Amino acid sequence: MNLEKVKESVDFIKTKIDISPEIGIILGSGLGDLAEKVENKVIVKYEDIPNMPKSTVVGHAGQYVFGKLSGKDVVMMQGRIHYYEGHPMEIIALPIHIMKFLGIKTLVVTNAAGGVNTSFNPGDLMIITDHINFVFNNPLIGKNDEEIGPRFPDMSMSYDKNLVNLSEEVAKAHNINIQKGVYVMMPGPTYETPAEVRMIRIIGGDAVGMSTVPEVIVAKHAGLKVLGISCVTNMASGILDQPLNHQEVIETSNRVKDTFTRLITNIVEKM
Ligand code: HPA
Repeated sequence: MNLEKVKESVDFIKTKIDISPEIGIILGSGLGDLAEKVENKVIVKYEDIPNMPKSTVVGHAGQYVFGKLSGKDVVMMQGRIHYYEGHPMEIIALPIHIMKFLGIKTLVVTNAAGGVNTSFNPGDLMIITDHINFVFNNPLIGKNDEEIGPRFPDMSMSYDKNLVNLSEEVAKAHNINIQKGVYVMMPGPTYETPAEVRMIRIIGGDAVGMSTVPEVIVAKHAGLKVLGISCVTNMASGILDQPLNHQEVIETSNRVKDTFTRLITNIVEKM
């Protein structure tokens, strides 16, 4: 990590905002609508921020949304940077470090994922209890900055137990069906083969996706509390006798987005 670059990006953003966010929320595929709930919104586009990749690479909604959610000062990432786009891990880490330096203490990561656990159904929301890094790359490879965190960070409690419990309670109180499980990150951009999905189940995965793990590693290293929520948009490859496509992922997240929004806004309220 290049501290000078992070500070340069942060200094730019601080000229645009007058809040100090306490919670960062990364919105996964099809889940970007949560940003509509933010009050006193200030948008900062990634392409305008020094050192962030340009929008042609990131996609359309590549922006931070600052404001209030459930009475708390938050920053949302509407659109994340994916490993499969070809970005080095350092670039995936940058927006997390930026949020950390803007003052967040907690990071909520969300994503769309394929259901590997056969008791799941498309449309289920899953609280992430742990992950498996199947990308075999790590955003912390390289020189360590002791100002940020230790050389060998502990990953035994990456997903905050209190936040897992809180999320379960909130789901129950609002009659939202919730699953818990282990998220496995594959590099993508191909969906998995049926054999890979069987392997993922054998090694202990409940859901599979192409994001989140590098961001969680960076957040943990930087001392942030992490909550992860997956939206199971489809059953993973080979489970049902049908091909996978991005359309299904978007359709399911659209179907679930109101429930998802209700869950996150109520969790944030209780944080
Ligand atoms: N595999 C990987 N990533 C995904 C999937 C999947 O089945 N669904 C949504 N994102």
